[in-house]
Amino acid sequence: MQKERKLIIAGNWKMNKTVAEAIDLVTDVKLSLASVKEVDIVVCPPYTALGEVSKVILHSNIRLGAQNMSEQNSGAYTGEIAAGMLKEFSVRYVILGHSERRQYQKESDELISKKALAAHLASLKPIICVGELLADRESGNTEKVLETQVRGSLAGLSKEQMEETTLAYEPVWAIGTGRTASAAQAQEAHAFIRGLVGKLFDETIARRVRIQYGGSVKGSNARELMSQPDVDGALVGGASLETRSFADIIKNSI
Ligand code: 13P
Repeated sequence: MQKERKLIIAGNWKMNKTVAEAIDLVTDVKLSLASVKEVDIVVCPPYTALGEVSKVILHSNIRLGAQNMSEQNSGAYTGEIAAGMLKEFSVRYVILGHSERRQYQKESDELISKKALAAHLASLKPIICVGELLADRESGNTEKVLETQVRGSLAGLSKEQMEETTLAYEPVWAIGTGRTASAAQAQEAHAFIRGLVGKLFDETIARRVRIQYGGSVKGSNARELMSQPDVDGALVGGASLETRSFADIIKNSI
């Protein structure tokens, strides 16, 4: 399908796959998607597998992403990983502010914006996640929540940095639940987010920025979601853990 922006489809493996399993999966994904040029394909394994996955995808059409990083460059931050450390493995993208981190690690919009700035300073491209809870949607607060998250998470980014940022709309009620947002719900939220980027930065940047949808994306719903004018890709959890389901999403989106 003809899209205004090149699709970006990323697999967020979350806390899954040993190094050996990661090598098997990415080797298979690479073979299966070798001919795809129409989509930017990204895999985001856990930190422990970045090094080996990076070797497998060298000189391929698959790019590497991390699932998180510290806002600090180095120092006494036990358990944290800095952008510069990710760069050692040729990581290009980093997911920031995933709802699981907002929920379990209590990450705030302010922290996410600091991470985004640190990512840009290291020439990593952030994928910044936003999305409402079911209670927000049911109480009619979806746009209010999205606006707070978008404004807060993008605070302090320059126009140039915003152009190198991807956004991901992931309604929390659709993550891992099998309950996907309808194509119309996704389009409505994406158009709203793009409008906000236009207000906060400018219209040219809003037209260029890519907004992924995430939440129970599968081969069977990918085409309809990706055909929406403001949906520019997918951030895939469960279905990215097997070659067949991940490849189906990408092939059905083209
Ligand atoms: P699922 O595709 O498993 O619903 O997860 C979506 C997600 O959280 C991607 O970041």
